[in-house]
Amino acid sequence: MSNPRGFLDADIRRVIRHYWRIAGAHPVHVAIPLALTFLTAALEGASYSLLIPLSEALSENSFDFLRESKLFGWVPTLLPAGALSSPRRDAYLALLILGLVVLARTGKVLGQFGKALYVHWRDETYYARVQERTFARVLGFGRQYFDGQSLGRLDVELGWSRAAVDLLASVEDFLKNVLSMVAKAVVMVALSVPLSLTVVVVFPAIVLVMGRISREIERLARVGAAVEVRTKSQVLDLLATVPLVKAFSQERQATASYADILGEARGVTMRRRNMTALRWPVEEILVLATVVAMQAVLILTAESFVPGDLARLAVFLLLVQQILPNLKCFGDFGMAVAEQRPKLRALATLFSDDEKYVVSSGDRDFHGLREGIRVRDLSFAYADGTPVLRGVSAEIPAHALTAVVGESGAGKSTFADLIARFYDCPAGSILLDDVDIRAFSLPSLYRRMAMVSQDVWLLNRTLRDNLVFGLQEPPEDRTLLDLLADVQLDTLLRDHQRPLDLVLGDRGVQLSGGQRQRIALARALLRDPDILILDEATSALDSIVERKVAEAIDRRFRGRTLLVIAHRLSTLRGADHILVFKEGRLVEEGSWDALLSLRGEFARLYEAQFEEERV
Ligand SMILES: Nc1ncnc2c1ncn2[C@@H]1O[C@H](COP(=O)(O)OP(=O)(O)O)[C@@H](O)[C@H]1O
Ligand SMILES: [Mg+2]
Repeated sequence: MSNPRGFLDADIRRVIRHYWRIAGAHPVHVAIPLALTFLTAALEGASYSLLIPLSEALSENSFDFLRESKLFGWVPTLLPAGALSSPRRDAYLALLILGLVVLARTGKVLGQFGKALYVHWRDETYYARVQERTFARVLGFGRQYFDGQSLGRLDVELGWSRAAVDLLASVEDFLKNVLSMVAKAVVMVALSVPLSLTVVVVFPAIVLVMGRISREIERLARVGAAVEVRTKSQVLDLLATVPLVKAFSQERQATASYADILGEARGVTMRRRNMTALRWPVEEILVLATVVAMQAVLILTAESFVPGDLARLAVFLLLVQQILPNLKCFGDFGMAVAEQRPKLRALATLFSDDEKYVVSSGDRDFHGLREGIRVRDLSFAYADGTPVLRGVSAEIPAHALTAVVGESGAGKSTFADLIARFYDCPAGSILLDDVDIRAFSLPSLYRRMAMVSQDVWLLNRTLRDNLVFGLQEPPEDRTLLDLLADVQLDTLLRDHQRPLDLVLGDRGVQLSGGQRQRIALARALLRDPDILILDEATSALDSIVERKVAEAIDRRFRGRTLLVIAHRLSTLRGADHILVFKEGRLVEEGSWDALLSLRGEFARLYEAQFEEERV
């Protein structure tokens, strides 16, 4: 960062303002704790100022001076007349003053407690709000954003949304300390002006030294934030691929590389904490040394010295001790900002719209397909820029079965994902009944269009939850069981007493690949869509099961629009129309027989598979 001391740059200020808005921050939420702080500071100041008459009485050995005292003349009036004239008056006065001190401190402690309760409520409410909104924002990013992200990094950054709230707490802390400091400073000045001046003189020196320490802490915080992200990414990555780690016996190596990064994190965190700890002694020694030196000068240069002056010094030193934590607030605030800045910077990135690949929702309602999907000169590249689709133009008629075939990497999945709006397509390149697909609202599209892709996404919830995910009115169990039977999941039903309550495990690992595919298929069928896109959705099934599943789909979907990508060409015999892709281009299209007689790419694919099956 080129400007480490520059307080908060425009990007960060924008993020903070934005976060305070979504947190529902209101000046009252800061004013209430501040008012309570003011009250407690006043009570604290009162309890300290009551030490003045006590120290005075100590040096004069009597409370007589109270009668003339401008500041404390009111104290004796609290005693009943009898007590004032009694010979034990000073004892009563001493007790009264001590009682008042206790009262003031009790009030202070209660005020602090009330403030703590309020602040806890406020902060936790803010935290929940900002995290929820950040989560919602991140979920709004396009699929392509997630393709390039590690889950660990995202997880960590979501947690960082709290940084903006923490900063609010820092501001409040700062104001609180200033108030408390002012209260004490008044008493200190009342005690001794020259001593107070020394504290003022030492102060800039402290700030200077602390500034250096703060800068180092900020640097370490930045390094620490990066290490935190890497640690989390590595853990989640390894945990998500445990089967791979095991299959290659990499447990030891995985643990070792985890230990490496933990060691790095440990070093950085330790240095940062040590640096933070260094501030206290440095600060305290600086202040104490100066105050004592000043007092020595005062004593030596004064014309007369009464030991009673030492009582004043004792109270003053006590106050210096007490004001030190308050003085720290300047450094603390700078440091809080320093610690939060790397996180706020990450949040600023999250909040800029650059490279978020948001697929925006249009405002037209999609009511189903009448004519068909028209693809016009569609070109597409992923983030790395290499073209994946080049000028594809095709018709996908409504109420018919269209198949897409081609070698692996030809761009079939990309083509399907663009139609399913998982990635954004150029304007005017995909039309539904002559209306740009980008004009339709995504929820209305997904109500009538379902896709089963190569990758199966299963939640770590029950089979029922997985099937009805996102449905507003979940159907009865009977319907679900019929559907499962249709996709040949009877074995799953037979083996379990209550199959719908079966928990599928993280990413569905308790199931075979074929079972997971069929659950995904059942989930799509349950939506009863007008347009169904199947991207190698039955690739993990054996041919007998695959044929039965295909029959079920055919039964349920006759007369609707079906787009099927399949590797096994034999399953596409019944297709009305076949699109053949090669290296991102549509090279042939037509019916099965027409394509075979062309003796081109399709015939080549067909023969290659025929060979394979014969072997
Ligand atoms: N999310 C992605 N990010 C970057 N490149 C991708 C992504 N998905 C696919 N690709 C690339 O796009 C090309 C086409 O892939 P894909 O559409 O999956 O082909 P097919 O489904 O025909 O096998 C491949 O070269 C692949 O490496
Ligand atoms: Mg594919």
